[in-house]
Amino acid sequence: MELVLALVTDLHFGPEASFGGKLRKLTAAAPSLARAFVSRMNDVVRPDLVVNLGDDIEDEGLEEDRARYTSCVDTLRGARAELFHVAGNHDLVYMRPPDLLAAWRRPEITSLNYSFELGGFRFVVLHTREKKDVEVTVGEAQIRWLAAELAASRAPTVILMHHSAAEQDLRGNRWFEGSPHICLVKERRELRALFRQHDVRAVFNGHLHWNHLDVIEGIPYVTLQSLIENVDEDAPGRPAAAHAVVRLTPARVVVEIEGAERSRYQIDRAS
Ligand SMILES: [Fe+2]
Ligand SMILES: [Fe+2]
Repeated sequence: MELVLALVTDLHFGPEASFGGKLRKLTAAAPSLARAFVSRMNDVVRPDLVVNLGDDIEDEGLEEDRARYTSCVDTLRGARAELFHVAGNHDLVYMRPPDLLAAWRRPEITSLNYSFELGGFRFVVLHTREKKDVEVTVGEAQIRWLAAELAASRAPTVILMHHSAAEQDLRGNRWFEGSPHICLVKERRELRALFRQHDVRAVFNGHLHWNHLDVIEGIPYVTLQSLIENVDEDAPGRPAAAHAVVRLTPARVVVEIEGAERSRYQIDRAS
């Protein structure tokens, strides 16, 4: 049994955005990079499942965001695979959950935290909520939902979320060095305890705009680089064009990071 999962994150369709006076997000290239990702999925990787880990847009206003969010999701729908989405913080600055759910066009999903089963694995999608400059939380109600969800099935499980539940050393991160409160989920210890108690095989997230791996008590926590991050220091820029191809089997998780900064992680299940 092998399930191939493709991940893409932080596509940021929208206006140009600089940070610290430098061009960091190559938003102008987002639609063409998303199309190239879809082509590679269809022509080369042929995954069973594509998951978009959120921040589809660079927020600007309700109408602009709705149009760009829909355009991003519609582009990804070109992949001939099951497609699921995670909500990112930029997606919910002006839009509300019903806007995102409408774009997803999956009437069976009625909440931004949800779960599904595919190919013998269970996938649990969390909705991490960012209060700008203050904190990132999932909240007590979602933790209760997660605990019940994890207890309801013994299937090997993959967690999908936008912010991170790991303890990352943030030194060298352009966006979040010195700011764990706006990239790491406040209740992360509680989440990790639940993951440990159940058969969680891997946890994937975006948001931090870098590639990073933590293995905590045998569970890999993988942060994926943004599709449109500038890997050079400033303009004109060179996009990360990042995506991940994950091969899940009962005994092993293999993660291949593709794009300008390639990596490969292999985690065998402790026996
Ligand atoms: Fe982002
Ligand atoms: Fe984000």
